[in-house]
Amino acid sequence: MPRFTTVALVAGAALLVRRAVRSRMSTAPLWPMPALDTPVSGYGRGSTVPRKVLVAGRATPAEGVVELRLEGAGLPAWQPGAHVDLVLPSGLVRQYSLCGDPDDGDAYTVATRLIEDGRGGSREVHEQLHEGVEIEIRGPRNRFPLVDSPAYVFVAGGIGITPVLPMLRAAEAAGADWRLVYCGRSRATMPYLEEITRLGGDDRVTVVAEDESGFPELEFLGRLPADTAVYCCGPDGLMDAVGAAMPEGRAPRLERFTAAATVGGTAFEVELRRSGRTLTVAADQSLLSAVREELPGITYSCRQGFCGTCRQRVLEGEVDHRDELLTDDERADSMLICVSRCSGKRLVLDL
Ligand code: FES
Repeated sequence: MPRFTTVALVAGAALLVRRAVRSRMSTAPLWPMPALDTPVSGYGRGSTVPRKVLVAGRATPAEGVVELRLEGAGLPAWQPGAHVDLVLPSGLVRQYSLCGDPDDGDAYTVATRLIEDGRGGSREVHEQLHEGVEIEIRGPRNRFPLVDSPAYVFVAGGIGITPVLPMLRAAEAAGADWRLVYCGRSRATMPYLEEITRLGGDDRVTVVAEDESGFPELEFLGRLPADTAVYCCGPDGLMDAVGAAMPEGRAPRLERFTAAATVGGTAFEVELRRSGRTLTVAADQSLLSAVREELPGITYSCRQGFCGTCRQRVLEGEVDHRDELLTDDERADSMLICVSRCSGKRLVLDL
């Protein structure tokens, strides 16, 4: 291996797994599926055009994982790291990384793991999205783009492999020096393992299955050359461990699929200027839930700061932004009220 030793990779990956395991209760899924939601009608967010697609293929790339081929006309081009929003038959909106071939202009491919104790989106995908079903999608959008680099390290946990898989193919096609640390509960539950192993071989791919290995060390990340781009997608514990192991002043590129903290902090007042109402948001209450008590028809979807549906214009006050979605420009005059709060005593919203 030109840049890293296999031993270091194995050891580092194993530490990731152990930290990830420690960070979760045993009843929680160790490697949660990407299950986010979508911009639908939030203020100022109209960048995604809805379109119909047909479930034209369905496969099982690993235990508990369903892969869907979604065919449609005139599908927009996409780049590795992109995701689409699926509007499920119930109206739930969930977000999935595209894991197929960007050159396949006739279809998108997504994969989802069934989360038994989830909020219902994955179960609906598994139980209702069979071949022949038509659904609506929005997107694609990409907030996890693959930058040009001579070298990459990818770290993926379970279904977090989905945005990484097209990156691996692109890195390989570009002749880049790439490595993957792929973690999961067991090999049987890790989708696309065969293709990935074929693509990279043992030199490039380190598989860390929880049921067969567990060895420490993340040190190799701390010794990476400056021109190596690091990408990670998986559970928070994994991403935190990767971030902690990076050289000082450098950060990995992360695709975060878990919710931001929705509550916590102190109580504050919010004035709904157009409605002429002023409310108190309790310390253990989200701003969205307080607003809904006055305006029950307000739009929202994911309640996790991912989709943008609940975005509202801020007229006055300092916002404690807790989402992963808005840009700095967008944050200048708006906020996602499902997760973000007030960093002072009072906010005024254009509601
Ligand atoms: S409801 Fe999705 S970001 Fe707020």
